[in-house]
Amino acid sequence: MSHIPVLLEESIDFLRIIPGGNYFDGTYGEGGHSNAILKNLNKEGRLFATDLDLGAIEIAKKNMVDNRFSIFHSSFSNIKHLDIPHLDGAIFDFGMSSNQLDDPSRGFSFKNNGPIDMRMNTESDANLKKWINNASENEIEDVIRQFGEESNAKKISKKIIEVRQNKSINDTHNLAEIIKSVSRFKKNKIHPATKTFQAFRIFINNELDEIQKLLSSIDDMMKVGSRLVFISFHSLEDRLIKNFFRPKEINYPRDIPINNEIEIRYKALGKKIRASKDEIKINPRSRSAILRAFEKI
Ligand SMILES: C[S@@+](CC[C@H](N)C(=O)[O-])C[C@H]1O[C@@H](n2cnc3c(N)ncnc32)[C@H](O)[C@@H]1O
Repeated sequence: MSHIPVLLEESIDFLRIIPGGNYFDGTYGEGGHSNAILKNLNKEGRLFATDLDLGAIEIAKKNMVDNRFSIFHSSFSNIKHLDIPHLDGAIFDFGMSSNQLDDPSRGFSFKNNGPIDMRMNTESDANLKKWINNASENEIEDVIRQFGEESNAKKISKKIIEVRQNKSINDTHNLAEIIKSVSRFKKNKIHPATKTFQAFRIFINNELDEIQKLLSSIDDMMKVGSRLVFISFHSLEDRLIKNFFRPKEINYPRDIPINNEIEIRYKALGKKIRASKDEIKINPRSRSAILRAFEKI
């Protein structure tokens, strides 16, 4: 199945695209948001993109033959080191693309069996299977609790250790069954392996660190008046965005002149946005999406 871009109309509205401006799509994926941005640009406009996934880069090179567009096989956190001009807008649509989730060989899914992998960048040396088969019970529990916010983390990590004493854990069905065996499966609720798979994926790709690094670099790339759009898929991502842009109260001593230049300010463009019922019906993946948009002032 090809990827349906989440909150597409809202993203484009918030970017308020200047036809001759410079834009950045940090998470190209299958190009849903990039395509829409490019449609709003005139011949002076430019769109730059990054993705860690080689499959995404291949799709872009095949489908986006346009001299206004360039893509880099890089993390978005590397934005300051790419050869790109100052930007009028940027978008980051975190999480996985349908291509990644639906390809069993990538090991992201507990529905389609495949080797445990979950790397966004298949050129990286990170090895989740090796880690799951070697890490201590405490390490595994910490990852599941911290990145999955899974209350059953202790039981799951204990079971992983118990099972791997007899046989190594190699594929995603195997892992999902282990998790299921110590979980209470509630009808109509999410699959019991959902949070643990999310935790392992965030851990092996350093996802939260990448977002932190992005946030600490992005301001240097943005023009005054430019706009930023972030789409998160769980509260850990959303919290990083929300807290980073939360206005900070600064109490300057009265006798020190305020240097406005050192204080960077972004204004939130309304509150967080969620997908409508109609969008969720067409694209269930949008159910957990949270969009936040900001303008540099
Ligand atoms: C939800 S998809 C983006 C979908 C895209 N907006 C579309 O409409 O087709 C997320 C993409 O971000 C990529 N990604 C994840 N972490 C990244 C990072 N640190 N830097 C660059 N790309 C990343 C993934 O490989 C994936 O292709």
